[in-house]
Amino acid sequence: MTEQQLIAFFQDLHRHPELGYEETRTTQKVRQALEQAGIDLLPSGLRTGLIAVIRGKKPGKTIGLRADMDALPVQEETGLPYASEEKGKMHACGHDFHTTCMLGAALLLKERENELAGTVKIVFQPGEELSDGGGGKFLAASPALADVQEYYAGHTYPGFPAGTLGIKEGPVMAAPDTFTVRILGKGAHAGNPHLGIDPIPAAATLTLSLQTLITRNKDAFEPAVLSVTHLQAGTTWNVVPEEALLEGTLRTLREDLRLRLRQQLEAMAHSIAQAHGCQALVSFTVGPPPVINDAALCAAARETALRLGFRVDRQDNTMGGEDFSEYLAYAPGAFIRIGTGGGFPNHHPRFTADPAALPGAARFFAELALERAGSK
Ligand code: NI
Repeated sequence: MTEQQLIAFFQDLHRHPELGYEETRTTQKVRQALEQAGIDLLPSGLRTGLIAVIRGKKPGKTIGLRADMDALPVQEETGLPYASEEKGKMHACGHDFHTTCMLGAALLLKERENELAGTVKIVFQPGEELSDGGGGKFLAASPALADVQEYYAGHTYPGFPAGTLGIKEGPVMAAPDTFTVRILGKGAHAGNPHLGIDPIPAAATLTLSLQTLITRNKDAFEPAVLSVTHLQAGTTWNVVPEEALLEGTLRTLREDLRLRLRQQLEAMAHSIAQAHGCQALVSFTVGPPPVINDAALCAAARETALRLGFRVDRQDNTMGGEDFSEYLAYAPGAFIRIGTGGGFPNHHPRFTADPAALPGAARFFAELALERAGSK
C-alpha cells in the first residue's frame, strides 16, 4: 500500500464509523488488506476484530501492537470531505487512525519479514469505548496472545502536530470506574412531606459531600476525579418521590487509592442516606486498570522515534480511561501519543486527526516492533 492508499483507507473508515462490537465492515476491510498482503490471522474468539501475525525468519521476542476500531455515538460536525456518512456515529476518538496505522505497520513488517527476528502480533481490537470492559479485557486474555512479551499502542492527540510523539513512563491514563447510588425513600403528597421520606435532600447532600473525598480524604499530589454526572428524582412538583438516583465516574491513577475511594464513597452514601431516614443501594462498574507505561520500553520507543526524525514531547496524564491497560496486566508496554493536530479534543464533534501523520506513525510502530523483537 502506498502512503496515498493508506490515507484513503483511513478516510474510508472515517466515512463508515461503527460502534463497539458492531465493527463488521471495518473488520472486513482490514482482513481483506491483510490477506492481500499474505499476512496470517490468528483466531481472536470475537465476531469483530482480528489478530494478525508476522513471523520472522530468525528467533526473537514476541511483540504486540494494538489498535482499537470502534467509533462513538457522536454526530460529526467537522465538515470534512470524508465526514461520517452514518447519522449519529463518528470516529471522534481517532480509532480509524489507529486501525489504519497498525495496518500500515503490519504491511511494512510483512515487507521486511526477512529482517525480522522474532514475531509481531497485531491486535485490531473491537469495543474499546464501552464502559464495562470491552474488547481489551477479552483479547488480552486470548491464548493467541499468551506469548506476547511487550505491548505497544498509539493514540491520536490533538495537543501535538503531526511529526510529534508523546512518550512518558509511569501512569498516563486513569482507571475509570462508574458508580450508581439509588437512594430509597417513601413517597408522599408534597404538602405532607412528614408522612413520607424525601430522598431528594439526601441526594443533594451526597452530591456535594462526595467532593470532600477528593479535597479532604487523599494526598493533594495524588490525582483523582469524582464527577456526579446524572442526578434524577421525581416526576412532578407536588409529589415527594420514592427514590433518587445518582450516577457518576471515579477516576484514579493508583490501585490502592482507587479501592479506598470506592469504599469511602460507599460508606458516605450509606451514612448520608441513613441520616435522612433513607436507604442507599450502591453499585460500581469497575473499568480497566490505569495505563502505566514501562520506563525501559518508553526509553526504547523514544530512541526509535528520535532516530526516525520525530520530535518527542512528554505527554500529560489524562483522567480518561483506556483498556490498553488490560494487556499490560500480562506484559509490560507503552502507550504512546501520536500528534495529529486539529485543535478539538478527542470525543468532540469537531475532532479531526491529520492524515499527514499516518504514514510516519505506521513507520514508527513497524520500526519499533522490528527492533524490540530482535532485542535481547
Ligand atoms: Ni480512544
